[in-house]
Amino acid sequence: APRGGRPAGALSFKPIPPNTLDTVIVPNGYDHCVVVRWGEPILPGAAQLDVRNQTGERQSRQFGYNNDFLAVLPLDKRGRSALLVANHEYTNEELMFPGFTGHDALTVDQVRAAMAAHGMSVVELERVDDTGQWVVVRKGPRRYNRRITTLATRFALTGPVAGSTWVRTAADPRGRTVIGTLNNCAGGVTPWGTVLSGEENFNQYFVGGDAVPAELKPKFERYGITTKARYPSGSRKWERADERFDLAKHPNEAHRFGWIVEVDPYEPDSRPRKHTALGRFKHEGANVIVAKSGHVVAYMGDDERFDYLYKFVSDKKMMKGDSAAARRHNLTLLESGTLYVAKLGFTSAGEIDGSGRLPSDGAFNGTGRWIKLVSGDRSYVPGMTAVEVLTFTRLAGDAVGATKMDRPEDVEPNPVTGKIYVALTNNSNRGVGSNAPADEANPRNANKHGQIVELTEDGGDHTAESFSWSLPIVCGDPADPATYFAGYDKSRVSPISCPDNVAFDSSGNLWISTDGNALGSNDGLFATAVEGPERGHLKQFLTVPPGAETCGPFITADDRSVFVAVQHPGEVSGASIEKPASTWPDGDFAKPAVVCTWRLDGGHIGS
Ligand code: FEO
Ligand code: CA
Ligand code: CA
Ligand code: CA
Repeated sequence: APRGGRPAGALSFKPIPPNTLDTVIVPNGYDHCVVVRWGEPILPGAAQLDVRNQTGERQSRQFGYNNDFLAVLPLDKRGRSALLVANHEYTNEELMFPGFTGHDALTVDQVRAAMAAHGMSVVELERVDDTGQWVVVRKGPRRYNRRITTLATRFALTGPVAGSTWVRTAADPRGRTVIGTLNNCAGGVTPWGTVLSGEENFNQYFVGGDAVPAELKPKFERYGITTKARYPSGSRKWERADERFDLAKHPNEAHRFGWIVEVDPYEPDSRPRKHTALGRFKHEGANVIVAKSGHVVAYMGDDERFDYLYKFVSDKKMMKGDSAAARRHNLTLLESGTLYVAKLGFTSAGEIDGSGRLPSDGAFNGTGRWIKLVSGDRSYVPGMTAVEVLTFTRLAGDAVGATKMDRPEDVEPNPVTGKIYVALTNNSNRGVGSNAPADEANPRNANKHGQIVELTEDGGDHTAESFSWSLPIVCGDPADPATYFAGYDKSRVSPISCPDNVAFDSSGNLWISTDGNALGSNDGLFATAVEGPERGHLKQFLTVPPGAETCGPFITADDRSVFVAVQHPGEVSGASIEKPASTWPDGDFAKPAVVCTWRLDGGHIGS
């Protein structure tokens, strides 16, 4: 049992101040370590990172780049060993390859190294003594260690779109098997112990959209794939290593990305799957909760300015227990169900002027409806088949008038209260030009700092088709009147900007990590109570080095460890491996890495 400190629940740590230091800072009484970093050997026979000689084959056996989502899953009953699962969202070639002068100049080996640095990793961890510190297992069979890469890993498509004409290609005429996963951002752990991962900005990997058939162009454009030029600016030029990234030759390849991926880390040889029943968009992630009825419900965001919030309700009910039959059954839960998009109603619509000033009823709040888009093979969107709704889900959301949000990132149910929290990261275009103006849920024009939505399903039923919502936090410098922290004394609140990932400790406290702090300091991790008198008392727990965003975060079930992924340290305009903006964590050049934080006295994190 944890020693010392207060009971779980109260967040009593002393907040750390905003800073721009090239290190990870944690509160007094805490420590941290780097668990694993880009390029570390994790599979048998792997080479050490050698930035002058990276190839696809070498990188395929090393920890990938730009760790984002993290899960730490128990591997034994005593809490001594665990599996770390990490997403690798994208690559910064300028920070990976010496002498980088542009994507055109990369060798094909380097392109293949970048492809292999995308995907996911599974790494065995062990606890250090009786502390909250975890380290990588360095010896022994490590039979769960795994790399999933864009270069070579085969994924099965499930659900209504699998096998359809939209996903058939020359290499896969049956439309059922995809090589690789792209831009895996956030994710979630399912109640049955698997990991979900969102394929987010997959558009950036494709060229040749100018040459696709005219009728496809509006669909590509809606997904951010340019159809105006053969090579979009900043193009990664992956088609030099793998022709399928040229849409002029293989237009359907783009439709094979933008899905929610499910991986079973406990079965290292299992084939990961892309679940088409959950729709196709720039998936930030997906988080599942079991409804009272036993159906499972996945909450999801489409991270683009003016895009939508979604939920999926399974057809089948979850089977409890660890039996082989239950496991097999639960692995099918995300293969069939109903997909909804959110439409919000407002209580103070007439008072919203884009300034972020609180309305006279004292709250940004309202009700809302989940609009049914598709259920199994049945479409509820006029003019679109079920397969089209799932493949071009953004167009379906447009057609039913879903509410345009300020970039929905993580959407996650609080396991203690069942309320759902949405990180809306920012929206510089809100109310600008002909773009949608501020509304009560997105109450600031040119929104630089983002906000948090709290959503409560009617009757506490996750399968409900109606809900209520409010904004507990409107982010920014608390001295700025256009911020809100649930009415808490703002002089005691930490400044926060650009919320991205959310997580909960076992007491239901809300932890928020940030990406792109528009207040000028480094990004970090924050925590606040969301119930009781401390609701809105947001405090900064950790900061990451310059140029990095804070991802993960993951609080272990025993509340003794917080993991964060430090993504793209040193990603600063003009920086390179020779001219680094950060040299974290090793003092030579910047490496994305996973950090574990624990309390020196062994007590509960945060308390
Ligand atoms: Fe990859 Fe929406 O952050
Ligand atoms: Ca109101
Ligand atoms: Ca994110
Ligand atoms: Ca982000």
